[in-house]
Amino acid sequence: RAALRCDALGRWVVHVIRTIMRVLLTGGMGFIGSHTAVSLLEAGHEPILYDNLSNADRSVVDRIGRITGHTPTFIEGDIRDGALLKQVLRNEHIEAVIHFAGLKAVGESVGKPLEYFDNNVSGTIKLLEAMRSVGVKRLIFSSSSTVYGTPQHLPLTEAEPTGEATNPYGRTKIHIEEILADLCRSDSEWSVVCLRYFNPIGAHPSGLIGEDPNGIPNNLLPYIARVASGRLPYLNVFGNDYDTPDGTGVRDFIHVVDLAQGHTDALPYAVSHTGWIAVNLGCGRGYSVLEVVKAFEDASGRRIPLHFAPRRAGDIAANWCDPTLALKLFGWKAKFGIEDMCRDSWHFESLLKTECETR
Ligand code: WQD
Repeated sequence: RAALRCDALGRWVVHVIRTIMRVLLTGGMGFIGSHTAVSLLEAGHEPILYDNLSNADRSVVDRIGRITGHTPTFIEGDIRDGALLKQVLRNEHIEAVIHFAGLKAVGESVGKPLEYFDNNVSGTIKLLEAMRSVGVKRLIFSSSSTVYGTPQHLPLTEAEPTGEATNPYGRTKIHIEEILADLCRSDSEWSVVCLRYFNPIGAHPSGLIGEDPNGIPNNLLPYIARVASGRLPYLNVFGNDYDTPDGTGVRDFIHVVDLAQGHTDALPYAVSHTGWIAVNLGCGRGYSVLEVVKAFEDASGRRIPLHFAPRRAGDIAANWCDPTLALKLFGWKAKFGIEDMCRDSWHFESLLKTECETR
């Protein structure tokens, strides 16, 4: 009996060692990357963070350490530095990559197409070349609901056509998905999971990490949070003449902690399969800009002054997803609602403002 127990324990240890992975997170100091690092650490994996700090603060790695009790390795570097990427992949014994690094603001991309294609598309090609050269062929890619362009049907399933993005940001994501599909067709050893995020918002409940973009936020939630804390005077509502219930834009907002968990739950699938697949990560319901403003006012107890402004170039009226494929393949489903997203976002902003005032 002792021999059987020893054999079973041995098999379990092998199983655990095999499933604990060393994962490179490009853009790992950013909003979604840092939350995914927390989720991976809590699952027993070893994330290694690679970031050029163009839209993240160096203190994030220590904050991840305070949340999880383990401070991951952080390497400062640009996604277009192929030589450094190759060195890191080899020296850190990387087994899989989660690729977050890239520029990500719809509105900003309309005025800066070359920067978006250079960072997002050329940067991804540099990463893939470095991965191929060291034999690392498992990738989870940070894709986006913007690949669907203007939806023909709602909710959006992964079978919906892509290819008609309404802005350069969305076009970079479409091109990268197509490059990854061609790579998998050329070499059957590759395993690629494109996670199509809907609208990630919120913050870790500790308030230690969240969405704190440099400069004036492009995205709705960090902007609202700064209005609530008094750092900005009012919110511009970009269009209230859309064909939606209250005329304002509708999006499928998802808590960033749920989104992070989606990456951790996708990892075993990426390890045990080859080929290319795209999977939606969203809640499966839409909220309008005005509904989010109301939820944030309830969560913060602060009023959000509004200015109704013209529509923003590149915007669509509405989108939300059908998230059932993620449940089927990864066993993943979003747990948090809009109230949790606004509560955690406000908690993060409140701590941030306090930090700014005490500096
Ligand atoms: C949401 C709604 C705006 C700001 C984002 C990211 C992109 C991708 C998808 C991950 C729209 C309105 C916004 C403001 C406003 N995420 N708005 N006033 O454009 O849906 O795309 O999610 O891959 O990276 O950019 O998000 O937050 O910019 O806009 O009225 O000051 O809020 O018009 O209807 P978007 P967003």
